[in-house]
Amino acid sequence: MADVTVKVIDAGPGDTRSPLLVVHVLQREEAPAGAFVELDARLGGTLTRARDAGDFRGKLGETLMLYPRAGEIAAERVLVVGAGKPEDYTMESLRKVVGTAVRRAEAMGVSSLAFDPGFDDTSEDMGAENAARAAVEGFALAAWDYRDLKTAAEEDAPRARVTELLLLSGTHPEEVERGVRDGRAFAAGENLARALAVLPGNVATPSVLADRASEMADQVGVACEVFDRDRIEQERMGGLLAVARGSDEEPRFIVLRHAGGKRGDRPIVLVGKGVTFDSGGISIKPAANMEDMKYDMSGAAAVLGAMRAIGELGVEANVVALVPAAENMPSGRALKPGDVLTMRSGKTVEIVNTDAEGRLILADALDYARGLDPVATVDLATLTGAVVIGLGHHAAAVMGNDEELVGELQAAGERSGQRCWPLPLWDEYRKQIESDVADIKNSGGRPAGTITAGSFLAEFAPRTHWAHLDIAGTAYRSEAAASYLRKGATGWPTRLLVEWVRTRARGW
Ligand code: BES
Ligand code: MN
Ligand code: ZN
Repeated sequence: MADVTVKVIDAGPGDTRSPLLVVHVLQREEAPAGAFVELDARLGGTLTRARDAGDFRGKLGETLMLYPRAGEIAAERVLVVGAGKPEDYTMESLRKVVGTAVRRAEAMGVSSLAFDPGFDDTSEDMGAENAARAAVEGFALAAWDYRDLKTAAEEDAPRARVTELLLLSGTHPEEVERGVRDGRAFAAGENLARALAVLPGNVATPSVLADRASEMADQVGVACEVFDRDRIEQERMGGLLAVARGSDEEPRFIVLRHAGGKRGDRPIVLVGKGVTFDSGGISIKPAANMEDMKYDMSGAAAVLGAMRAIGELGVEANVVALVPAAENMPSGRALKPGDVLTMRSGKTVEIVNTDAEGRLILADALDYARGLDPVATVDLATLTGAVVIGLGHHAAAVMGNDEELVGELQAAGERSGQRCWPLPLWDEYRKQIESDVADIKNSGGRPAGTITAGSFLAEFAPRTHWAHLDIAGTAYRSEAAASYLRKGATGWPTRLLVEWVRTRARGW
């Protein structure tokens, strides 16, 4: 995947040499001020005429392409993009504005664009740093495209690659530079998550996932340890071994360590479900859309993406990432309904449905986390179909044993544009996973399926400061969820995690 180039330049919109100058305008009644007026004057009042004619109102995603006359300004084209109403204006609006511009550039075969994050006055309220960060995120996320498995020549591609962003520094160059640094790291982390999640099951096996994790760790200076089957056996990870048993692919348990905090500081632990393909096992899934179960390692992908950003940004906290990785397949050796497992924690689990495999591998990882004496633990998993019914594709479910932590994750989700919404883990739900033969069983049936999965995890998770995000509805989409995304893997919720970890590291 070709990387993008971001350059900060010290020029006004009228003097920026570019094939495509992009500016954004909010939808409001008052007459525009600042850079709008200046650019409008250089363009002979074209912007004002479009506004007065009612052709362009500034609605989010609305566009107007202008072709300046020779000599008016340095850019060949001006794309005006609506940024929506001032009261709804957030970093997410800017990501979408830039995403919209990238899509237009792709369609036109233009590979470089210039953007002025401070063009509309209201950007001042957001701060130059946040605006620059959102612009770079929107750009790098939108530009990302997965074509590695297509054999056709690049020139036959349906869309051009957009590779270069010129960002106008305005009056706050240092803040813009900081925003660019953050935006690059956040987006590179999230794009890694997308690049891993999109990989087919035959390409991204558990051992390949571990290799990719260790390559990434080397790049950003994070320590990486990979447990093979023998080591997993020594750890007595009964859940992970049982899920892997039906597959010819060996399981892996990936441990990444970012030592950004003080020596001895208790770590933040991130855990991601790494089922590289989920057939359901003996309780096999229906054929329709089963191919989507290559995305069942999206939690792992997001954790690895977050660690990439955390390492690159040198976040001042100790952070450990844990990824249990396995493939869930049916075979003569596979786990069966009725089987009883002994988990790493020593608890016994009756299997009533081999398709409830994610919680089995996560249980062992969460029990491992317990031993690390974490300050906080967050796990992410494409865990239940039920969350797609409950919240659809616009929010993940969050639950846990710490209301404050749940609140922190919700707040980080608002800022990153990756929202999550709480569900209760009350004792009444816990009853649904009581077993007649073992300590608990691995499915609580259809009612409140997302909550009972959470209740199962709670049995193994650190007893305090733990939260779980169910990302089954948000990790991949059959349509692009926003202008800066594409259909397929969304990288969800890499940016939320980095945002949360960094806020923690900086102290509240
Ligand atoms: N990986 C699936 C959950 C899933 C479903 C993710 C749809 C993405 C889209 C998980 O392993 C699973 O199969 N869960 C079962 C649990 C049930 C058997 C208790 C489910 O949700 O049906
Ligand atoms: Mn399953
Ligand atoms: Zn699964």
